[in-house]
Amino acid sequence: MKERIDLLLREVEEFSTKATAEVESFRVEMLGKKGKITSLFNDFREMAGDQKKEFGRPLNELKKFAQEKVSELKADAEESSDSVSGEDLSRPANFTSLGSRHPVNLVKNEIVSIFRSIGFNVSAGPEIEDDWHNFTALNFPEEHPARDMQDTFFVERDPDWALRTHTSSVQVRVMENSKPPIRTISPGRVFRNEAISARSHCFFHQVEGLYIDKDVSFADLKQTLLYFAQEFFGPNTKIRLRPSYFPFTEPSAEMDVYWGLENERDYRMTKGTGWLEVLGCGMVDPNVLKNNGIDPEVYSGFAFGIGVERIALHRFQIPDIRMLFENDLRFLEQFKAAY
Ligand code: PHE
Repeated sequence: MKERIDLLLREVEEFSTKATAEVESFRVEMLGKKGKITSLFNDFREMAGDQKKEFGRPLNELKKFAQEKVSELKADAEESSDSVSGEDLSRPANFTSLGSRHPVNLVKNEIVSIFRSIGFNVSAGPEIEDDWHNFTALNFPEEHPARDMQDTFFVERDPDWALRTHTSSVQVRVMENSKPPIRTISPGRVFRNEAISARSHCFFHQVEGLYIDKDVSFADLKQTLLYFAQEFFGPNTKIRLRPSYFPFTEPSAEMDVYWGLENERDYRMTKGTGWLEVLGCGMVDPNVLKNNGIDPEVYSGFAFGIGVERIALHRFQIPDIRMLFENDLRFLEQFKAAY
């Protein structure tokens, strides 16, 4: 008994902590129901009378000593201002590492929010498409070169299933499933069987738009795109429309925004013209409306298709499109502060 008392005396004496929680567990360990000191008392109760005389006092002293120690430690722990539960509250916080959005998504989200703000809704469709939705309904003649193996990844032939080459396929689905007025944009990934280089990849992203109603004119198209360009590139942005060709629009155009020609970089980016090509557009060909059950005598519309990567490369001055898809964290982490 004597040794056990001495041992515990030393243990109590040596114990020290600044954490309230640790003081409490020490109290339980010593003085709790099954605590070491409590169990000494239990043994003590079984002892013969003369032994009780011998150990009663030291045992009580041990208990008192432990109780005092606990309340002392508790007071200390609570008093030391920067410790509530053993934590140092003045320590700098741990950094929570935030993820970053992908540059393609940053640009896509911005384009989408501009068009949403003027009443366009967002539509989506499958990445694997049949011939009808990717080509035929969009007025691609049978022999059109875009149907060639060179441009299209076919998943199956006869009947053809392919990775969509543009999100115009989604617009076909919207026309099938809804009645004008239609105002929709379709962001999504598209695929082209092209050689991969610094400027082009075999997959990329588009945001295509479609607007169909009575009396929609080319002036509406131009004004809508001007609005977009000035929201996206800045309020004084100038645009120009160059005649172009797409099977599904007539007339068709490509839109450039004026970028400037002030330094060598501007020269490189705009191939010496000062103008940056941003999107393809046009009035929806009456054949496309007809193909999708919309009467071209009553309705007209415009469509446009924006290449997201191309804009992202310019906006963030990324020299090589392949960097967008390598998942190199050293690259991706640079966009943490972008928005
Ligand atoms: N679908 C065309 C492309 O992929 C872009 C476009 C869309 C052009 C709508 C005109 C109208 O290049």
